[in-house]
Amino acid sequence: MAKTTTTTKSVAATNGKSSASSNVKLAPTNGTSPKAFTKAPAPQMKKDEAKQPKDNDSRLEEFFHDELKDIYWAEKHLVKTLPKMQKAASSPHLKNAFVDHLDVTKRHVARLEEVFGILGKKPQAKKCDAMEGITKEGESIIEDTDAGSSTRDVGLILAAQKVEHYEIATYGGLAQLARTLGYTEIASILDTTLEEEKEADNNLTSLAENTINESAASED
Ligand SMILES: [Fe+2]
Repeated sequence: MAKTTTTTKSVAATNGKSSASSNVKLAPTNGTSPKAFTKAPAPQMKKDEAKQPKDNDSRLEEFFHDELKDIYWAEKHLVKTLPKMQKAASSPHLKNAFVDHLDVTKRHVARLEEVFGILGKKPQAKKCDAMEGITKEGESIIEDTDAGSSTRDVGLILAAQKVEHYEIATYGGLAQLARTLGYTEIASILDTTLEEEKEADNNLTSLAENTINESAASED
């Protein structure tokens, strides 16, 4: 018995040039003139190009890259600072919060390294004066309060929330900037970190409200 072979041919247009598909007349839909269907479908190039990052020589691009270096330094600095805060805290809940956030912060460092990779850049840190200042303030709080006191825990929460708010402002701004520059994947990575910073901030608020502030208020 003779074998019958059926060949299916793809007729997709490439780079806007006409192909077999341009000759196909499409069926009209409600209320539209059949004339409208004699043309080949519009090429998709514009849409695809819009998803690509814009030319990376702009000043804004440079600023974005610089700000990434800044928050990269800040996150790495926090990896060193959080264990000190954990050690200084008395409340087991607060200690746990610092331990948990250390893990989360290490993930933030790794995510930023991923972002540098997407940009085709080497991860580079640039000293963040703001984060250095906030963590120095945290050190002063530890020096100025008694070990084992809830007042010190209140101070640590306050310092940690200043850190979180700085990070929330930074990641929120950078995620938006990434979208403006056409880096949708980077924007989504930064948004993930942003949500984790907000969660950490909310946890600290709960700790203060539920136990630590009251406990400190009853101290001499
Ligand atoms: Fe972080």
